[in-house]
Amino acid sequence: MALSRRTFITAGTLAPLAAWARAGTLQTQTPPATPVPSPGAQRRAPDASSAFDPWVEVHAGNLRHNVAEIQRRAGGRPILAVIKNNGYGAGVANVARVLDPLPSIAGLAVVKLQEAVTLRDAGIRKPILLLGPFDERDLEEAVSRDITPMVYTPIGSWLDRLAAKRGRPVPIQVCIDTGIGRVGVPWRDAAPLVRDLAASRSVAIDGTFMTFTEDPAYDREQLARFQSICASLERDGARLGAKHAASSYTLYQHPDAFLDMVRPGMAIFGVHPEPQFRQSGVMDLRPALALRARVIYVKQLKKGDSAGYNRAYLADRDVWIATLPTGHTDGWPRVAAKGARVRIGGRLYPVVASVSASHTIVEVGEAPAVTIGDPVTFYDWEDGSRPEDVSAACGVSVYDLTMHLNPLLPRRLI
Ligand SMILES: Cc1ncc(COP(=O)(O)O)c(C=O)c1O
Repeated sequence: MALSRRTFITAGTLAPLAAWARAGTLQTQTPPATPVPSPGAQRRAPDASSAFDPWVEVHAGNLRHNVAEIQRRAGGRPILAVIKNNGYGAGVANVARVLDPLPSIAGLAVVKLQEAVTLRDAGIRKPILLLGPFDERDLEEAVSRDITPMVYTPIGSWLDRLAAKRGRPVPIQVCIDTGIGRVGVPWRDAAPLVRDLAASRSVAIDGTFMTFTEDPAYDREQLARFQSICASLERDGARLGAKHAASSYTLYQHPDAFLDMVRPGMAIFGVHPEPQFRQSGVMDLRPALALRARVIYVKQLKKGDSAGYNRAYLADRDVWIATLPTGHTDGWPRVAAKGARVRIGGRLYPVVASVSASHTIVEVGEAPAVTIGDPVTFYDWEDGSRPEDVSAACGVSVYDLTMHLNPLLPRRLI
């Protein structure tokens, strides 16, 4: 019987696979070095992960360390912590609970209203800036939950209605697009809009901000535009609140753009956004996220055997490989097969073949040096296993590593 990919998927359990192997239909290699440990006699909840499923660790001490480092670098300025996209993979409420009590954290910023509401439901008290879109009903909900909207279009009538209903001005932050071309009122049109908002009795401007393109030369031009607009508005009496622009990249590149407050994301999670920043000594950042799992299978391939879809790996000698229960659906990128290494028992092993939805294969060497159940580190805070190391090895952006972690994976706060 020819086995299609679909046959494997629908075949389900290991037992029928073993039966096929005995019948000679499927050539398996040397059996596992150790039997699969029993998952335990106790019944588990249907949504509980198995002992082998990947998990994410969130290191609270490293988060705190990074915040202190950022504040030192920013000359003591307050920090508006960007924790969008599920807290850069850590779990938005997990991160917020660590950051909320820190005096240096002036507030938190997210992009989705639902994340902002999750933070309030989790009891987070610091100001929350919503960097994402909303309609009039969303605006009312946000403001009723003490969530500050980012404004850059003429929504004065919405703000008037809401302020009348509340009996007090609506706190907002204004976003000016100085060249990134994403959101924000275009800098050439900014003055009239901001002037109107600043003059409105329905509005209190808590902050005014921009985002850099992170092109070093153009960033300077963007900053000059922003400063010129703000200075002119302030000369005319407009109150713009705290002015801010500096993401993680800017913390390394442009101290003159630290302004009243800095607004980093990735640096809080301890990851240098660009490879050249790691050796710069500007900040000592410690990664706050780890992705781990356990080896689920160990086998020997004979010379000429293959592994992975499309026979992506061909054994050029008799070699042991290990299967890990982590794939691109978990947030471990496909491109990891182009040079990334994972740590098992203190040693680094290369990812080979291809990363499929739920599996990764590593080459272990000429001896079965790893065992089923061994913990595996895809990345964490140790040198050689940092997200930056994975990025350097296979070319994936560090932003595509942590932010793509599957929200369903268990998070363990350590
Ligand atoms: C408006 C805004 N500010 C700040 C940040 C933080 O950026 P980073 O994670 O590079 O520090 C982001 C993230 O992309 C953002 O969209």
